[in-house]
Amino acid sequence: MYSEKVMDHFQNPRNVGEIEDASGIGTVGNAKCGDIMRIYLDVDENQVIQDVKFKTFGCGAAVATSSMATEMVKGKTVNEALTVTNKAVMEALDGLPPVKVHCSLLAEEAIHAALWDYAEKNHIKIEGLSKPKSDISEHEEEEDY
Ligand code: FES
Repeated sequence: MYSEKVMDHFQNPRNVGEIEDASGIGTVGNAKCGDIMRIYLDVDENQVIQDVKFKTFGCGAAVATSSMATEMVKGKTVNEALTVTNKAVMEALDGLPPVKVHCSLLAEEAIHAALWDYAEKNHIKIEGLSKPKSDISEHEEEEDY
């Protein structure tokens, strides 16, 4: 059912953890299954992503896609990081079963939310990045979980 790459990234996920004093943090929830993902970015003064870590409360496909997505954004500029779409991540993993495609959205959305957080903190605009809909960090308190 899963490709070898998916199994590899699920069993040995890269970049799990947190970054202290991260340049940007994004937390998103998956509307379909309720799983949660948080991404931390360390961006240098040239807007290059030096480090990225993630934590998830999600399924194996979410772990594998996040692991691959973090590998793909590392070393890219914040603008280039937008090319790491869930489609690109799925291709890099040699595909996901159709019922698991929504899981790959979590990584893309969390990266976008973290980039948005970085851009806001630094008063910059990242071309092509729109405000994340599902960043749950700001309205956590108002909602019942
Ligand atoms: Fe929730 Fe995969 S089932 S992220």
